[in-house]
Amino acid sequence: MNESIKNKIEQLKKEKDAVLLAHYYVDGEVQEIADYVGDSYYLAEIATKVPESVILFCGVSFMGESAKILNPEKKVIMADQYADCPMAHMVDMDKIEEVRKEYPDVAVVCYVNSTAEIKTASDVCVTSSNALKIVKKLPNKDIFFIPDNNLGRYIAGQLPEKHFIFNDGYCHVHKSIHAEDVKKAKELHPEALVLAHPECTGDVLELADYVGSTSQIIDYATASDNKVFLICTEMGVFYELMQKNPDKKFLSVGHRQFCPNMKRVSLEGVAEALEKLDPEVELSEEVRLKAHAPLKRMLELAAN
Ligand code: 13P
Ligand code: SF4
Repeated sequence: MNESIKNKIEQLKKEKDAVLLAHYYVDGEVQEIADYVGDSYYLAEIATKVPESVILFCGVSFMGESAKILNPEKKVIMADQYADCPMAHMVDMDKIEEVRKEYPDVAVVCYVNSTAEIKTASDVCVTSSNALKIVKKLPNKDIFFIPDNNLGRYIAGQLPEKHFIFNDGYCHVHKSIHAEDVKKAKELHPEALVLAHPECTGDVLELADYVGSTSQIIDYATASDNKVFLICTEMGVFYELMQKNPDKKFLSVGHRQFCPNMKRVSLEGVAEALEKLDPEVELSEEVRLKAHAPLKRMLELAAN
């Protein structure tokens, strides 16, 4: 059954001149058929380099929007119409306006896990892999970090020279990884290193041996001589961790490390979306142009 869908997807990809981009949180069987798999930064960057005229995105809507904003000439199709990141909606335009009034020299730093509309009102975008590097380079002292409170606080802790204003957005998947569960897992596996995503709460990050984006966690575990790891992020990363490290052991700390939106993406959905070239990401040219500036600035600042 899987083999015939995979063959169909391969055939449709050629027929439609499509490339498949997938995030590490989608199911392993989807990662397996994707042309490129990565973290949010890698996917935004690779989307600007692929030659195909159609990009099929296996991820959540903000990722497809970013690909469209950066590549207006391409057709960007989502593998699932309803896969959306709740955190992307946890800040609004009024809040940004309010903060800009109070702090006229503020830089609005927007985690890519945000809507295209929110990006239009932002100065620069960041991802979990480049936020520290980018915020450090900004000339502004006042930083309004949106929408994720946890990532904002994690970065702020390393940049005491800046003044941060926080928003109260969060990722429900990472928030449900509790410090108590990490402590219990550490007691059971004292030899394990704790690797955590910065969307986790501060008390979990304090227990971590390493904090990084999904790609950075995979790279760290792959380069490490250690054999056992407690993974504090969404369970989709286990697929690549095990592909690259069949001799190592990766453990979750709870049963809630599951993003229901990322898991909406299926092989059947990919085949159907490719066949119909639908649902397509559509943005008004006004929104696209305004949202392009902070994304372009992120690519420039992250590269140098
Ligand atoms: P990264 O892929 O940048 O680590 O982000 C994780 C995430 O939550 C994406 O939705
Ligand atoms: Fe959003 Fe969290 Fe799911 Fe990532 S894991 S898409 S931040 S809800």
